[in-house]
Amino acid sequence: MFNDLFLRTCRLEETERTPVWLMRQAGRYMKEYWGIRSKHSFLEMCKTPEIAARVTMQPIDTFGFDAAILFSDILIPVEAMGVDLEFVEGRGPVLTTKIEDITDINRLVVPDPEEDLPFVLDAIRLLRKRLNVPLIGFSGAPFTLASYIIEGGGSRNYLKAKSMMYNEPRLWKSLMEKIADTVTDYLNAQIDAGAQAVQVFDSWVGCLSPEDYKQFVQPYTKQVFDGLKGDVPRIHFGTGSAMLLEHMRNAGGDVIGCDWRIGLDDAWTRIGYDHGIQGNLDPILLHATPEVLVERIRGVLDKAGGRPGHVFNLGHGILPTTPVENVKVLVDAVKKYSLK
Ligand code: CP3
Repeated sequence: MFNDLFLRTCRLEETERTPVWLMRQAGRYMKEYWGIRSKHSFLEMCKTPEIAARVTMQPIDTFGFDAAILFSDILIPVEAMGVDLEFVEGRGPVLTTKIEDITDINRLVVPDPEEDLPFVLDAIRLLRKRLNVPLIGFSGAPFTLASYIIEGGGSRNYLKAKSMMYNEPRLWKSLMEKIADTVTDYLNAQIDAGAQAVQVFDSWVGCLSPEDYKQFVQPYTKQVFDGLKGDVPRIHFGTGSAMLLEHMRNAGGDVIGCDWRIGLDDAWTRIGYDHGIQGNLDPILLHATPEVLVERIRGVLDKAGGRPGHVFNLGHGILPTTPVENVKVLVDAVKKYSLK
């Protein structure tokens, strides 16, 4: 039997209970992940449809989540744009192609997903045959991808990215337009291949003031959402975004994702009850005792108040140090305590 609880919730239907999945649910906290990861690099795993499909399924089979998210990374299409990408052990992504002037930006391409990223679409097609829960496709949002491209990796202050934004607005615009075109095509290809929902990750958007978000980011994210085809639910996620929630909603998305730095009740008031909300347990709570964990899960559910449209999730990705027993505790607690 196909479990469509997550999709009905995204459409704001009254449901029997709250659906639950976790960002980065397929990953290093699971021994099944390491079983494969010890034999393959992370990028190899992303680029081999059979492996990506198997890893996507692992947490569904082990914990009984209500949705699967494709195993991949937000930087995969960035590599296809022409940026050299490596994942360095213990350091995360490193992008070595310099993107500083208009010549550099002109050299970047808008990839053709079927041609340049076929492994992503093949993994989706495989998964649709095997899954009995909805499959979520995803992409990074233009701002988060632009910061990776300009900074060359993770960053504390976004000095280079924000400097381009403030000092060279024409360069910024041409880069953001190219990324927005890439993201739109990429998500539409995932929808065509069978993704039943999509999530746009603007993970680093919290470093922006509301004014800068509205001027330099919102138009491009809106371009992406406006360009998506079909009627699959769209989730728009950011972190540190408490003061940006209404502007993110205005950029697009049926469900807005938020982190734990704001109460779910306050966040939903800002977003409006005509939209769904996803979140927002602190991932560190998965390291607490089961008693504390369950108490906090019930706190999040209480703040949602049984209103239709709440998708239970963490406020950001699950950490590799998470004890697996607690993931089981979390899934069971959400299912038990949200039951109507
Ligand atoms: O959620 C899922 O289970 C689907 C797969 C997924 C991964 N990355 C797998 C991954 C998704 C949706 C992402 C998104 C992603 N990637 C984001 C946005 C979400 C967020 O957490 O804010 C970002 C910022 C990235 C970039 C990225 N990828 C970083 C910074 C790192 C290294 C840091 C770290 O956590 O180690 C990655 C690597 C990565 N992406 C791994 C996985 C499972 C670890 C790879 C390994 O096995 O070494």
